[in-house]
Amino acid sequence: MHNDKNLHRTYETTLYAQADTAQALHMEPSERAARYYIVSYGCQMNAHDSEKIAGLLESCGYQQADNQDSAHLILFNTCCVREHAEKRVFGNVGALKKRKDEDPSLIIGVCGCMMQQKDVAERLFSRFPFVDFVFGTHSMHQLPQMLRHVLRGERQFLVFESPGEVIEGLPSKRMQGVSASVNVMYGCNNYCSYCIVPYVRGRERSRESGMILDEIAALAKRGYTEIQLLGQNVNSYGKDRGGIPFAQLLQMANDIDGIRRIRFMTSHPKDLSDALIESMTALPHVCDHLHLPVQSGSDRIQALMNRGYTRAYYLGLVEKLKKANPHIELTTDIIVGFPGETDEDYRQTLSLIEEVEFSAAFTFMYSPRAGTSAASMPGQIPAALKKERLLELNALQQRQTQKTNAHYIGTIGEVLVEGCDQRRESLLYGKLSCFKMVYFPGDPSLVGTYQTVYIKSTKSNSLVGELDK
Ligand code: 5AD
Ligand code: SF4
Repeated sequence: MHNDKNLHRTYETTLYAQADTAQALHMEPSERAARYYIVSYGCQMNAHDSEKIAGLLESCGYQQADNQDSAHLILFNTCCVREHAEKRVFGNVGALKKRKDEDPSLIIGVCGCMMQQKDVAERLFSRFPFVDFVFGTHSMHQLPQMLRHVLRGERQFLVFESPGEVIEGLPSKRMQGVSASVNVMYGCNNYCSYCIVPYVRGRERSRESGMILDEIAALAKRGYTEIQLLGQNVNSYGKDRGGIPFAQLLQMANDIDGIRRIRFMTSHPKDLSDALIESMTALPHVCDHLHLPVQSGSDRIQALMNRGYTRAYYLGLVEKLKKANPHIELTTDIIVGFPGETDEDYRQTLSLIEEVEFSAAFTFMYSPRAGTSAASMPGQIPAALKKERLLELNALQQRQTQKTNAHYIGTIGEVLVEGCDQRRESLLYGKLSCFKMVYFPGDPSLVGTYQTVYIKSTKSNSLVGELDK
């Protein structure tokens, strides 16, 4: 058993870097704050990490810059889930050399999952000597101390192999509009054979439920009504620490005053219990949406992927979910071109998509990741074939999305207004509980409120409506 006192440590905001920042940039602290810009790649989890990094930088006296060009400090929060993301980071960091030559006071840092791979981090650090500091996902809370050294002219490299304790209480700058993200757990134990996440994010570590609920209550007090619970595998929440299970956490979150919508991701099908399906159905504030990555429709490929379920099991879950809540919309992740994927395996994926009728799918070409078991499997698929499969899959999913969109024509639903269209201020957008995006005319003052909207028509990836009078 873990001892909470040892496992969880509260981070106390470090302000001492503030004076150094102003000094190094030759400005009076009161005169003008140094500005930061974070370039964030990858998943929701990384986007929320960027919010914490922003919170830390603001606790050091920095302010957010409108764009990269006006920033005194640029930080790349990287992702390494697919090769493409990695290439982009090297390209984008490299492109800053000229600017750094012209302005040596510019501070450049690189962090996130990709930097948690020590060999990659070392390669980047030596290839780009103008990068001031690099740190891995497990060292985020040490940013103020690192910055203090950087401002004294020392380069910093901080990549710890092991995640260490869960750090609580990091300040967070909420940048994702009307919905607030809350981590429930970190890491993943699943070792899907294609995936690098367990290597870079470490083993599952659940947060103490009281800490999570306090954070949600504090967000509700600040006016947030929608929260998004985050974890690589939220369905196994609590198992590592013998705490309450996820279904119970949901119920307690549901009862917090002011919370009207709860979303969560990601759910692993193998850990989606009947108790959780029941809670989702019974709790009024849990949304009518579930992201349930299937990855492949073929039993053989699912086994090679080490997913721990079969096609029939997945379809059984879908049936249970739809029976429990006929309004539920499902979204998924799919990989094409996994090693050894035959045309028949791939057809199985297409037929599963038709059978389930996902509302949307995030689709990827398999990308070998060094250190994962799939990277050395026989039968690696040529890039051209992967691409061909992806295009056909996307076209099919597009038709499915349109089919699911069409069900909403003539219905009335509640939309949480997220923002207004950049080009047409009077065009608002926001989501239904089921995660469908709706566009409708209205006054920008409605952003952040719930509105009843009548759905008139559809676009390829969204619905079009009008305020219901
Ligand atoms: N290649 C392609 N897609 C991947 N994903 C994870 N690892 C890989 C990889 N090596 C996809 C999975 C996962 C999503 C976040 O990214 O579909 O669910
Ligand atoms: Fe990666 Fe599988 Fe864990 Fe998801 S469940 S993060 S795909 S290892």
